[in-house]
Amino acid sequence: DLMQQIHGLEAIFTVSGDKLKAIVKHFVTELNKGLTKKGGNIPMIPGWVMEHPTGKESGDYLAIDLGGTNLRVVLVKLGGDRTFDTTQSKYKLPNHIRTTKNKDELWAFIADSLDTFIKEEYPEGVPKGSKLPLGFTFSYPASQDKINEGILQRWTKGFDIPGIEGHDVVPMLQTELAKRNLPIDVVALINDTVGTLVASLYTDGETKMGCIFGTGVNGAYYDVVSDVEKLEERLADDIPKESLMAINCEYGSFDNEHLVLPRTKYDVMVDEQSPRPGQQSFEKMTSGYYLGELMRLALVDLHSQGFIFKNQDITQLQKPYVMDTSFPARIEEDPFENLEDTDDLFTNELKIKTTSVERKLIRKLAEVIGTRAARISVCGIAAVCQKRGYETGHIAADGSVYNLYPGFKEKAHAGLRDIYGWAEESDFSKYPISIVPAEDGSGAGAAIIAALTEKRLAKGL
Ligand code: BG6
Ligand code: GLC
Repeated sequence: DLMQQIHGLEAIFTVSGDKLKAIVKHFVTELNKGLTKKGGNIPMIPGWVMEHPTGKESGDYLAIDLGGTNLRVVLVKLGGDRTFDTTQSKYKLPNHIRTTKNKDELWAFIADSLDTFIKEEYPEGVPKGSKLPLGFTFSYPASQDKINEGILQRWTKGFDIPGIEGHDVVPMLQTELAKRNLPIDVVALINDTVGTLVASLYTDGETKMGCIFGTGVNGAYYDVVSDVEKLEERLADDIPKESLMAINCEYGSFDNEHLVLPRTKYDVMVDEQSPRPGQQSFEKMTSGYYLGELMRLALVDLHSQGFIFKNQDITQLQKPYVMDTSFPARIEEDPFENLEDTDDLFTNELKIKTTSVERKLIRKLAEVIGTRAARISVCGIAAVCQKRGYETGHIAADGSVYNLYPGFKEKAHAGLRDIYGWAEESDFSKYPISIVPAEDGSGAGAAIIAALTEKRLAKGL
């Protein structure tokens, strides 16, 4: 009976090569639609980063990165010779801040953290009269008409703070900085994918995209401005039509219409129980924020049908999001034949005793959820490369799933191989398009972009 359940789970979570190809085909159409004036599901947000870095950018820059769990503050010293040094501190976001009702709390927390950081880094004070330029990595969909602006379209990744959607976040931060007399000028707001793209291009000229496989899933690339219909009338007349601009795709929202993605009933539940149903369909099947929750929902369902954890109290397991992605990751990593680590995990964290065959099911479930995420998430890469005609190159990647989820890199490359029909290689760096570890996008990337922006402003552009 339980074996049947295992096969059933395997069947609903498996995505064939042909299905991947069909997803990519629709994805290309949707990327193009997103660039039109009318727009589509995928926001395709112009990032106003118009130059490739030369590697000669130099100077001291601050960068901040508002991630899901931490605020990172970085001081970047660009060397001017394709090298940089960074000093950084992490400040843990107080738990309630993701969903606080008082938005000022968020900006005050960031400003206080910056205050602490500057006092540590500049004990004598910032040189008189000078202001530190700051690049703000804000990893949510934010529209920009210029680089030092970011109008939040909608929160993603479980953030839900009222009063920010529809507004420019830069003045909100700048106001809190002013209250503390901090000599900081927010010169650029960037998405983490754009930062990843630019930082990696600073050191590797083969970089074609910056991608995040983390709490969220997203990618950025450079497009030709004349191919971005929605930029018409928004560009100054003296900008050559063949110029390139970084585009933050925000492709986590791919297929919100549910036309091609193979959703299971658990995907539908994740969506319906989220603060933003109907949004981020692609992200909800692939990103770290949701993988553990998908697993939890499947287990609760199997329990309610009487297949697993019979006569046990599953109160702990009934808590939404109690299993973060480290759960399926640890289960997939369990080295023991009899899955003893998994046994400990369930006993200690969820107060559930598991039988050996139940653990087999749990392991299979982790595997199929992780494998599906890796295979589907590379469809965004293939779609951008097809759209731009890139046949070779490096895809710079960052994020907790890419860096920490066991087997993710192998499975992602296997997905690309199925899409392109490449012959199998034991070393995936040999594939024409390969995913490589990124340079620090929200630190170095934000700093380089801040430097590029200052250079452009100095030229009066
Ligand atoms: C970090 C990058 O390593 O990965 C950030 O520096 C990025 O810019 C982050 O936002 C994404 O990963 P996660 O797993 O924290 O969402
Ligand atoms: C979410 C955000 C996006 C970000 C991605 C990765 O998809 O909307 O802006 O790039 O997560 O952090």
